[in-house]
Amino acid sequence: MIRDLITRNRSYRRFYQDIAIERETLRELVDLARLSASAANMQPLRYILSCDPEKNALIFPHLAWAGYLKDWPGPSEGERPSAYILILGDTEITPSFGCDHGIAAQSILLGATEKGLGGCIIAAVQREKLRQALKIPPRYEILLVLALGKSRETVVVETVGANGDIKYWRDSEGTHHVPKRLLDDIIIG
Ligand SMILES: Cc1cc2nc3c(=O)[nH]c(=O)nc-3n(C[C@H](O)[C@H](O)[C@H](O)COP(=O)(O)O)c2cc1C
Repeated sequence: MIRDLITRNRSYRRFYQDIAIERETLRELVDLARLSASAANMQPLRYILSCDPEKNALIFPHLAWAGYLKDWPGPSEGERPSAYILILGDTEITPSFGCDHGIAAQSILLGATEKGLGGCIIAAVQREKLRQALKIPPRYEILLVLALGKSRETVVVETVGANGDIKYWRDSEGTHHVPKRLLDDIIIG
């Protein structure tokens, strides 16, 4: 079960933009993050939810997509995410957030996968521009943006080849290929 969920939980970057996601669905996903591990149980993460076209349009311009796909500027109008969850760190609780946001992101995306949705973790964010667009107070550090939607692309996991290239790529049919290292190559002791 968990292996199947993790295998299906790929990074998706093209969506059916007109298939809406309810705010209540986003709340259920954040509740999975709420129940997840947190260093010293400080729980410093805060979230901003977006699922309406106007707010989504304030977020999208400040995100960078698929750096290895040099000739693809990101999802075009009509295939953009229909929702976002911004993961913020409250600096009044702690100045450093360790890996809390990575754990939260994975919990949210596994929950999204179980619900038949897809998403992508975005760390390449123009943070100050996004802060201004959403009027996010300075006490909150913008850590990650999770893009969410009903995926419209096929992603397949491959094995890293003999040349060791880990770059994902897209074939002529638009299928996205993600090379993963072999188990015996990552267990070193
Ligand atoms: C911390 C982190 C930051 C990421 N930032 C971006 C990003 O800014 N833009 C993007 O398109 N993908 C981003 N990704 C997605 C990765 O490119 C993706 O996880 C990787 O290509 C492997 O694909 P997979 O998630 O399907 O296994 C990020 C992933 C992680 C874990």
